[in-house]
Amino acid sequence: MSEITVRRLTEEDWAEYREVRLRALRESPEAFVASAEEEADYSEDRWRARMRRSQRLLAGRDGEALGVASVGTEGTSGDTVGELFGLWVTPEARGTGVARRLLEAGARAAREDGLKHLVYWVGTDNGRAVAFASSFGFRPTDNRRPMEIKGVDIDDDDAEEMAMVLPLGSSSGDIPTSL
Ligand SMILES: CC(C)(COP(=O)(O)OP(=O)(O)OC[C@H]1O[C@@H](n2cnc3c(N)ncnc32)[C@H](O)[C@@H]1OP(=O)(O)O)[C@@H](O)C(=O)NCCC(=O)NCCS
Repeated sequence: MSEITVRRLTEEDWAEYREVRLRALRESPEAFVASAEEEADYSEDRWRARMRRSQRLLAGRDGEALGVASVGTEGTSGDTVGELFGLWVTPEARGTGVARRLLEAGARAAREDGLKHLVYWVGTDNGRAVAFASSFGFRPTDNRRPMEIKGVDIDDDDAEEMAMVLPLGSSSGDIPTSL
């Protein structure tokens, strides 16, 4: 079987990103704030703007998309904290190292941009994502926010996300108090 590769997408790859993003939202609606229904109506201009705003990483093998992740700084505090978001791996490719490859590429891109920490907001009930992020080196913090998901009824009104933080420097680094 050939190698898993991770590509940094450019603005011109917007249609490819759109396809995998909508697949992710349809397959795991409970994991994402956004809904596929809403994003399916976005214009080309809007997709292009999204591509410019954050780094989009696409994992694949033999031309087949296996997963996606994004890294950006919008909404984070200070200029050295980036955010990892939109992480998704196709169900068939879970447990095969695709998520790790995506995060390695994301951390590399963040370091190249001079970032010192990556924050990852993840549902406290999303055991698999929390376990994966922990094994990669993300640390849990006390920062919590309510889970807000469009188009999905969450049984638990108290559902929360927590911020997990990955130091990107060579030393273990302090976790910033504001994210
Ligand atoms: C989150 C995601 C990207 C992780 O990728 P993955 O390929 O599944 O991750 P891995 O299999 O490498 O690692 C998951 C770890 O959690 C463990 N695990 C599996 N199910 C679990 C559960 N319900 N609770 C706790 N741990 C669990 C696995 O054993 C594995 O640990 P190990 O490496 O020590 O064996 C993927 O599961 C996914 O796309 N999920 C749906 C979308 C999603 O939730 N995205 C995150 C949004 S914030």
